Amino acid sequence: MDGTFTTKGADAPFYLAQGHECEIFAAAYANRLPLLLKGPTGCGKTRFVAHMAARLGRPLYTVACHDDLSAADLIGRYLLKGGETVWVDGPLTRAVREGAICYLDEVVEARKDVAVVLHPLTDDRRILPIDRTGEELAAPEGFMLVASYNPGYQNILKTLKPSTRQRFLSVEFTFPKPEHEIPVVARESGLDEDRVALLVRLANKLRGLKGQDLEEGVSTRLVVYAATLIAGGMDFTRAIRAAMIEPLTDDADIRKGLSDLVVAVAG
Ligand SMILES: Nc1ncnc2c1ncn2[C@@H]1O[C@H](COP(=O)(O)OP(=O)(O)OP(=O)(O)O)[C@@H](O)[C@H]1O
Ligand SMILES: [Mg+2]
Repeated sequence: MDGTFTTKGADAPFYLAQGHECEIFAAAYANRLPLLLKGPTGCGKTRFVAHMAARLGRPLYTVACHDDLSAADLIGRYLLKGGETVWVDGPLTRAVREGAICYLDEVVEARKDVAVVLHPLTDDRRILPIDRTGEELAAPEGFMLVASYNPGYQNILKTLKPSTRQRFLSVEFTFPKPEHEIPVVARESGLDEDRVALLVRLANKLRGLKGQDLEEGVSTRLVVYAATLIAGGMDFTRAIRAAMIEPLTDDADIRKGLSDLVVAVAG
């Protein structure tokens, strides 16, 4: 199914912890509690889940939620195969059956009927009723539900109901401190830490403008992009423009202001 992949194996993808998030994730898993990750785009949520799933040795099913995603997309449906109707599990059902970690990315985007499915699975019942087949699956020990969303977009229509939100432990992600972001970007891009430090300083200046002119600050992902271009030989200013300014806004005046700021900081 689209937006779904499976990861197995003990080689955990690189993730540098910023606080106690690894401990909280491990405790949530051990106590069979669901976990909600809140934070801006590109700050490491997906990487964190992949890292923890590998460390805990659980398969991972990731679902990128969108405004058309329904309960049936998660649970499964009857499909016609070679003249026969067969039941095909959705990613959530597969994760429950296998005792895997199911990660619902941008869960607020999904349709309302998804919350109905999540409720019995995320409280102490830990069950997944499959109405269409009449089955009721009890989630095994290894099953864990992780969801993420970005509260920054301030869409009143798209926020989690308290009855959903209060079923999850929560961890907030923010832009990392320079002492965390510099080694992350250096490792991801191969660029030396001195030049990465300048990019991170710039990113933090640009982040300071969030809210006034910009909807969202420069993500760590974009800093990694800029560093990757520079490591590949691209000129500093060109890389910053392509990776850290153009992606932020379509407004030409604001982009001009950002470019001026870059010149002032980087010289
Ligand atoms: N703490 C970290 N350790 C390692 N890599 C990180 C960390 N934080 C950010 N990154 C880097 O930033 C990139 C973007 O992170 P990721 O895709 O996990 O963001 P996200 O929070 O899931 O964003 P979105 O909300 O847009 O899905 C990663 O590919 C990785 O290179
Ligand atoms: Mg993500």
